Amino acid sequence: MIFQKDYWERNQLGRLRPPTHPVIEEYVISKIEIIKEYIDLAPETTLLDVGCSNGVFTYYWDKICTVTGVDFSEKMLTLNPVTNTLLMDANDLKFADNSFDVVFCHSLLHHVEDIGLVIKEMARVSKRHVVILEPNRNNPLQFLLSYLKKTERKALKFSPSYLKRVSETNGLWVVDSFARGMITPDRMPPFLIPVVRRLNFKQPMGMTNFVIAEIERRKNSDIYDVPQELLNRRYSQH
Ligand SMILES: C[S@@+](CC[C@H](N)C(=O)[O-])C[C@H]1O[C@@H](n2cnc3c(N)ncnc32)[C@H](O)[C@@H]1O
Repeated sequence: MIFQKDYWERNQLGRLRPPTHPVIEEYVISKIEIIKEYIDLAPETTLLDVGCSNGVFTYYWDKICTVTGVDFSEKMLTLNPVTNTLLMDANDLKFADNSFDVVFCHSLLHHVEDIGLVIKEMARVSKRHVVILEPNRNNPLQFLLSYLKKTERKALKFSPSYLKRVSETNGLWVVDSFARGMITPDRMPPFLIPVVRRLNFKQPMGMTNFVIAEIERRKNSDIYDVPQELLNRRYSQH
């Protein structure tokens, strides 16, 4: 944990691509469009971006809903263009239960010590939806990148089935989970954007794992509003 925090505080991380970089924009917008197929997002929708870092997603969430970002690295928060951010540890979110309509994280869980604890915290502060995006170790390039970098090694266990299982055992009701996309946001040259756009479909070796979930306590309530088509899809998988 200390080692991870030190890493995110290091100065050279200031050279990360900003949210407005064309590759980042393509990476993020294409994912937000997928999430919008499952969740209605409006300006009044409250969304928590956990481990928001330099704002790669926060910047775009801020344009479509009411976003709050949290991260335990002060350095990363200073790079985030969104002002509604707080210094906070994902293991101990300082919000009341049911505080946000949507709780989201991207590329956070493979950096934390106790994945289950962070998912439980995300579920606790969510009124309704939790969305998790993590690298897919079943993609050969993603596997290699995770293997080569010490801070990324925990991503080596993040297969689509692992992420689904760990979500379900920590209080989430997974509406859909899949791997999709072929963009490495911090490395890919912009000229490849038209190529990867064509590869943005669900596939076992997609670069990013998605979990779209509701919180478990809503599963038996009479107020959930997951489209029937998605419910059918979920039950047909078992
Ligand atoms: C790979 S970065 C990127 C995440 C960011 N969501 C994005 O889309 O670019 C991971 C971030 O998670 C933060 N982080 C790691 N562990 C954390 C924790 N326990 N609590 C809060 N933030 C954490 C790091 O400081 C870093 O900014």
